[in-house]
Amino acid sequence: MRSRTPCAHSGRTRLLHDLEGFSVVSAWKSSGSRPRRGEAVTGKLPRALLREFAAVLGSAHVLTGDATAGYVTDWTGGFTGHTPAVLRPRDTAEVAAVLALCTGAGVAVVPQGGNTGLVGGGVPRHGEVVLSVARLGGLGPVDADSGQVTAGAGVNLQRVADGAGQDLDFPILIASRGTATVGGAVATNAGGLRVLRYGPMRSQLRGIEAVLADGTVLSHLSGLVKDNTGYDYPALLAGSEGTLAVITAARLQLVPRLADPVTVIVGVSGPAEAHALARQALRTAGSLVSAEYFTQAGLDILTAHAGLAPPLRPPSPGYLLLEAVGTGAAERARLWASRERHPEAAGFLGVPLKLDVAVPAAQWVRLASEVAGVVTAADPGAQVIVYGHIADGNLHVNVVPAAPADGRHEDAVFSFVASLGGSISAEHGIGALKARWLPLVRSAAELAVFARLRQAFDPAGTLNPHVLPR
Ligand code: MLT
Ligand code: ZN
Repeated sequence: MRSRTPCAHSGRTRLLHDLEGFSVVSAWKSSGSRPRRGEAVTGKLPRALLREFAAVLGSAHVLTGDATAGYVTDWTGGFTGHTPAVLRPRDTAEVAAVLALCTGAGVAVVPQGGNTGLVGGGVPRHGEVVLSVARLGGLGPVDADSGQVTAGAGVNLQRVADGAGQDLDFPILIASRGTATVGGAVATNAGGLRVLRYGPMRSQLRGIEAVLADGTVLSHLSGLVKDNTGYDYPALLAGSEGTLAVITAARLQLVPRLADPVTVIVGVSGPAEAHALARQALRTAGSLVSAEYFTQAGLDILTAHAGLAPPLRPPSPGYLLLEAVGTGAAERARLWASRERHPEAAGFLGVPLKLDVAVPAAQWVRLASEVAGVVTAADPGAQVIVYGHIADGNLHVNVVPAAPADGRHEDAVFSFVASLGGSISAEHGIGALKARWLPLVRSAAELAVFARLRQAFDPAGTLNPHVLPR
């Protein structure tokens, strides 16, 4: 629960006496009500605070006005916001200094990595300050003994994989890997195309460095595989969506590089056949790393709008892509393009709602078979494209609405998923998009513990106040 105690940060009080054209704080003054604990505010900033940011970062790394444009909208165009300033620290000490300033001034902060998130969690939708980790680009040497590496939060995932050397690889394989950063991937517990073999980002974490909202630096980067010395806060920060701390570096486990993976695409009659084949492959091919489902509906859009060559002829209602350690496939890139370009497909038809759900394995066929009907019952003109990670029980339901996107599509899909015992977010997170539906899948007791954790890490409510419920 939020505390109702008025905030008495000395920094904030000082700033209240140093106003220059500052609408939000002026409003507090005229109404006589100061921001409360746990309610960091958004809006314009006092010039004195901007000067303090510039003193820490250098004025070139405090972006305002038009220079913030690339930081306020996500790549789908589905989430857009505005910010009084984008802060671009170059190291952990600078992150700590600007976070302490923000918390002292009662200013809300949205941490941002590569801005490739899909639930609006890195977009300043309410006028928050953006703290970009893009300049935290240090990538340490690979530790040959442990097969680990320490990467700054701003390093993109492709760079981690490329830097791993000939024998090692980084197994978080997502289509946005050339832009998505380590910090963002940890904060959202990114999944991707090889989770069935290696697990999500949390499974690769062997340590973390992060900064609390008050500027306290936590660092636990030794990379021990066994380390039962108290709470596993790196694991807790994985999937915390920027609400508990700003991740500045991660110690990552690398895996043996698949020298020559073999990739196949099988045409299937629909979800039931795809699921049965995937189950068989999981049981019999111990070296399986990927099992991906997509449909002709998505392929048709990519063929028409992106010039994609169909992977098979004649076409099938559905497709199953399998990849395993093996003897190689000459056309691997062409085969993967059919699946990896699916996130773009719905975008050719309109601004999509990207719903990312998971159900127990036994319910996946029902989910994949019935979800389009569930959506069109709520919005008969909606277009629905599905694809996903079949072995993880995960389906991406991309909806291009015809009716107003007023929550009816989420209501329909998430209620259906909850009735199957599933999750309303398999890998993209809750963000700004799904917070109101969280009670469908989390009990009041669980949500109360979430709120208490958040209060413990960030009592002033500085970090991503509009992401996940407080
Ligand atoms: C994927 O599996 O392609 C990613 O999660 C991205 C998406 O769903 O759009
Ligand atoms: Zn996915």
